[in-house]
Amino acid sequence: MVTSPQTTPTARTAQSDWWRQAVVYQIYPRSFADANGDGVGDLPGIISRVPYLVALGIDAVWLSPFYPSALADGGYDVDDYRNVDPRLGTLDDFDQLIEALHAEGIKLIVDIVPNHTSDRHEWFLEALEAAKGEPARERYIFRDGPDGSDQPPSDWESVFGGSAWAKTDDGQWYLHMFAAEQPDLNWQHPEVRADFLETLKFWSDRGVDGFRVDVAHALVKDLSEPFPSKATLPRQSESNGKHPLWDQDGVHEIYRDWRNLLNTYDPPKSAVAEAFVPAARRARYASADGLGQAFNFDLLQADFEYEKFRKVIEENLALAEENGSSSTWVFSNHDVVRHATRYGLPKNPKGGWQDGKDWLLSNGTEPTVDVALGLRRARAATLLMLALPGSAYLYQGEELGLQEVGELPAANLQDPAYFRSKGAEKGRDGCRVPIPWTVDGLSFGFGPGGSHLLQPKWFGAYSVQAQEGDPDSTLSLYRKALAVRRGLRTGNSLTWVDGTDWVLHFTRDGGWQSITNFGAAPVELPDAAVVLSSGPLEGDKLPSDTTAWLI
Ligand code: BGC
Repeated sequence: MVTSPQTTPTARTAQSDWWRQAVVYQIYPRSFADANGDGVGDLPGIISRVPYLVALGIDAVWLSPFYPSALADGGYDVDDYRNVDPRLGTLDDFDQLIEALHAEGIKLIVDIVPNHTSDRHEWFLEALEAAKGEPARERYIFRDGPDGSDQPPSDWESVFGGSAWAKTDDGQWYLHMFAAEQPDLNWQHPEVRADFLETLKFWSDRGVDGFRVDVAHALVKDLSEPFPSKATLPRQSESNGKHPLWDQDGVHEIYRDWRNLLNTYDPPKSAVAEAFVPAARRARYASADGLGQAFNFDLLQADFEYEKFRKVIEENLALAEENGSSSTWVFSNHDVVRHATRYGLPKNPKGGWQDGKDWLLSNGTEPTVDVALGLRRARAATLLMLALPGSAYLYQGEELGLQEVGELPAANLQDPAYFRSKGAEKGRDGCRVPIPWTVDGLSFGFGPGGSHLLQPKWFGAYSVQAQEGDPDSTLSLYRKALAVRRGLRTGNSLTWVDGTDWVLHFTRDGGWQSITNFGAAPVELPDAAVVLSSGPLEGDKLPSDTTAWLI
């Protein structure tokens, strides 16, 4: 039985703090739907799929970068912050997209990339043309190498591998924490600060409802010399403000200015930080005089285990309560192996599946994936997440239970992480393959042309068409779960029901319950009506790797 929604979509997202309990669906635009058949997804493609988003029951779309870009890093290398990549459409298409979403009560959040521009941005072109020491270079971080040597100014490494410095023709070096095509901006420069405020205003005036802030913890750097060697630097995720390149306290000044601007709109524009920092440091990014919300990647990095999930949930709910924000939950995005695959991989003996990496969580699908186990756990984890207070971020294709594509041929790979690590990292392309809409046909309904990342044969079985009429499909599960969630009172409270240390059981407002069995054997369900379950029940028992909602 599924309870019917108690509010219309428009009423649901009308409040100014709509983002606190929102279900946000991430669209990676080049891989969602391709209207013009050039093999790359576009804005008209997204517009044509608005009815699908409505049927799914999401509250908001987060659109990954759609700006003009040479795609050195999937669009996170932005040439022009106030325009649309002509391959994806025009500003007019963008306006139509907002209109189509808003007509259905769906909000739109856009990605903003402030740490670096692309190397084709007019500022960087100007900087390269300018002579050493000229003001045009000051918007970026140019330095000389050590006297008389051909070495970079420090041994710092880029997140994607290799040196974080690239040399210009006149022998100076510029800093790039990501690809060489993504020069880091100098946020001490007043023009940089002023220009991003202009960009935020530009999109806010066009009607976007909020922003996702890329590597929000990287903007301010302590560049005092001599530069410390990488061997002496703390781990990024544990640095507590002591790392010269990440999570410096000074960054919050910038977000105060942003918040002041975003609050001039009615309702205020929302913002969510991608800040890979320890949980306790996340609060400042999520504060009311800062961005307001920050991603919590803790569940995404946790093994599918009772204790790990419980600890992460408790910690994050407490933090959200402390700083008056709301928690965010996420299992999949465009940077990580899809969770339906992750949960089917053998447990990493080093603890956590990410092999000690800070955030670039991608190693393809080796060794062998247990697809059925991965999907069962992914469905259980998602249903649990959707029962939690806070907002849930979904990534396109996860509602299809889509697996990572591990078999992309090397010649088709696009991720700079693959190239800069000289193939040691498989990279993130496997979760960015255009999603399948139809069982067969050219590009499985992605568009009338091909697909810029090659779709495997097995994609058709995961398609929307294959799942739509099947009440047990993952798509049906997501649709039902979002419909039920909408009808619930979604306050911030959660009460644990303690029992065994492998069954995660809690109640929400109004006595509604969620229960997940992380154990190996089926467990007795509480005496209440089952509203929805992530997999088949065994009579009145909840099988392992399964979540049920009860009223
Ligand atoms: C984005 C990545 C991107 C990086 C550099 C990340 O946080 O999510 O996709 O490669 O920032 O912009």
